[in-house]
Amino acid sequence: MSILFTHIGELIGIAANETDKRAGSEMKNLPSIKGAYLLIADDLIVDFGPMEALGEIEADQRVDINGKMVLPAWCDSHSHLVYAGNRVQEFVDRIHGLSYEEIARRGGGILHSARSLQKMPEDQLFEESATRLETVMKMGTGALEIKSGYGLTTAAELKMLRVIKRLNETYPVSIKATFLGAHAIPAAFQGQKDAYLELVIKETLPQVAKEGLADYIDIFCEQGYFSVSDTFRLLEAAKAYGLVPKIHANQFHAIGGVAAAVQCQARSVDHLEVLTEEDIAVLKNSATMPVALPGCSYFLGIPYTPARKLIDAGLPLALATDYNPGSAPSGNMNFVVSTACIKMGMTPEEAINAATINGAYAMGLEKTHGSISRGKKANFIISDEHSHPGAIPYNFGAPQLSAVYIEGKYISPI
Ligand code: NIG
Ligand code: FE
Repeated sequence: MSILFTHIGELIGIAANETDKRAGSEMKNLPSIKGAYLLIADDLIVDFGPMEALGEIEADQRVDINGKMVLPAWCDSHSHLVYAGNRVQEFVDRIHGLSYEEIARRGGGILHSARSLQKMPEDQLFEESATRLETVMKMGTGALEIKSGYGLTTAAELKMLRVIKRLNETYPVSIKATFLGAHAIPAAFQGQKDAYLELVIKETLPQVAKEGLADYIDIFCEQGYFSVSDTFRLLEAAKAYGLVPKIHANQFHAIGGVAAAVQCQARSVDHLEVLTEEDIAVLKNSATMPVALPGCSYFLGIPYTPARKLIDAGLPLALATDYNPGSAPSGNMNFVVSTACIKMGMTPEEAINAATINGAYAMGLEKTHGSISRGKKANFIISDEHSHPGAIPYNFGAPQLSAVYIEGKYISPI
């Protein structure tokens, strides 16, 4: 089935097929056509161009966009959308003065979510996660990564990853799955971190690989969680199964996680709220995508990733939600893009590139997602706005959508 969209006020986020990401000063470049058409067939973009160049085109359906803007659907490269329960009490405890790290030391935090998830039947976990996924699709997300890491036993990690697989099979969004067994040291292994890591490597990882449940491997490389040498150990083991790293690093402390990620040829290194000059230097000679998670900084009141430093050093940057019950309970990419502009000094063009083409790269989906390009997936947002790309982050927290198309399918917006 083909659909021809006409009278697009501005078609933004166009890229040549060979563009895999945008870095440094190129991030300001958000190519567009004013007064455009867009032709899709089934799940793919077939053609686009200025209205004047629109000849006689056969299409099963025609949609007059009436001057509204069209942009690529969001690519959310870091989420923990599969989880059980919530952490509202910890949110209130933090308002009363307890820190995120203090709550974790008392057995809350990730361990709280693990207790809830271990108890929840797989079908219920699927249903609750599916509701969240439907909501983020309605807010314009067309591809995302989802991590395990709230299981912390082999059975519960496999349960999470099977739910992720089922979500991918059920919905038109592309989902990349990441095995994050090394997210925290479970209660049963307190004081025995090495024994837990041994279990992850010797028992869980082989099962994950055998069932083909993960594309990526992740570890929380952070003081009080897993060290740089733990990171090397896990990533080395995962490499044998073909799992590429995407690492949590530098959320609270710079302990060398960035250099470890780069050395292990990680696809991305995420968080980076605390970043040293050496970290920036190391990233410069790599193909690893730095990923900022402003929703986490906002919710926890911790520093924002220094986007300007990274971009002004010539580096690329991706933006993602980190959607999870503890540090960022929101999957709203519009809010993320706005917050990057308001709190991190990114321009709207930089932030939109960071949330589309660079997000696609951070998931290894840059050949099929993240831009308006012939042959890529027909994933795009029709914005309510008519004017300037800046209107997208200006309307903070409110997606302002007329429609979302994911793999050519209409999704009614929120
Ligand atoms: O990316 N930092 C580690 N993991 C998650 C949060 C986990 C949680 O608090 O549940 C994050 O922020
Ligand atoms: Fe995370």
